[in-house]
Amino acid sequence: MSATEFNPDQLANEYSERSPAAIIKLGLESFENIAISFSGAEDVILIDIATKIKPDVKVFSLDTGRLHAETYRFIEQVREHYNIEIDVLSPDAETVQNLVRAKGLYSFYKDGHKECCSIRKVVPLRRKLMTLDAWITGQRKDQSPDTRNAVPVVEKDAAFSTADKNLYKFNPLSNWTSAEVWEYIRSNGVPFNALHEQGFSSIGCEPCTRAVLPNQHEREGRWWWEEATQKECGLHEGNLKK
Ligand code: ADX
Ligand code: SF4
Repeated sequence: MSATEFNPDQLANEYSERSPAAIIKLGLESFENIAISFSGAEDVILIDIATKIKPDVKVFSLDTGRLHAETYRFIEQVREHYNIEIDVLSPDAETVQNLVRAKGLYSFYKDGHKECCSIRKVVPLRRKLMTLDAWITGQRKDQSPDTRNAVPVVEKDAAFSTADKNLYKFNPLSNWTSAEVWEYIRSNGVPFNALHEQGFSSIGCEPCTRAVLPNQHEREGRWWWEEATQKECGLHEGNLKK
């Protein structure tokens, strides 16, 4: 299918009740130039499912420079386990240095996460997405009642499409719960990040993620000093406008 024939709204409707595997297959068959955005957390199941369909599926990770040691190790474990290439993307060194020189290493605790996330995640992501026609993410509705309750299984990316080019975004896990994801991980022997054994449900950068207590919502462990409605780092900025 060419990008001009691709109708995300119609397909989102058609695939709203379909399995993550069916949605990933749709993405891989519709776009040659598509990649999985892998955070080093339970979104590893996207890789597990996709490599069964396309063993050399493209994968990238945004290395903010502030990930946990466990996450770096896990990304390497996944690379070896699935025998895939993972494009690990660094932020622009000079911009990071300027930020740190001006505001120190923990400015986000004082004036919010947006500036640091923009430099360390969003700009490198935009650069990567400019080379792609579509991307696959591990977003789920149940990750955030405040910002993700309407994530469709496929959409035109509202934040990263440009006047010249539409970019499509597949969210195959949107309708799965955390329990379903973990059932898949256990029953398929999928490797997982060691932080999950230490009380971390949601995993982001080390200074901005903490373990949650039993029955505390997973999103409460992310940017816990900020308002729940603002807890998007810019990767999924389109969610805030919905
Ligand atoms: S975030 O926007 O709050 O950081 P979250 O951690 O919930 O995102 O992850 C949702 C999805 O965003 C992941 O499954 C992945 O597709 C993408 N993502 C988040 N962080 C990264 C990262 N560091 N590298 C690549 N993809 C990421
Ligand atoms: Fe910076 Fe925290 Fe955003 Fe990571 S999550 S890029 S450390 S503000």
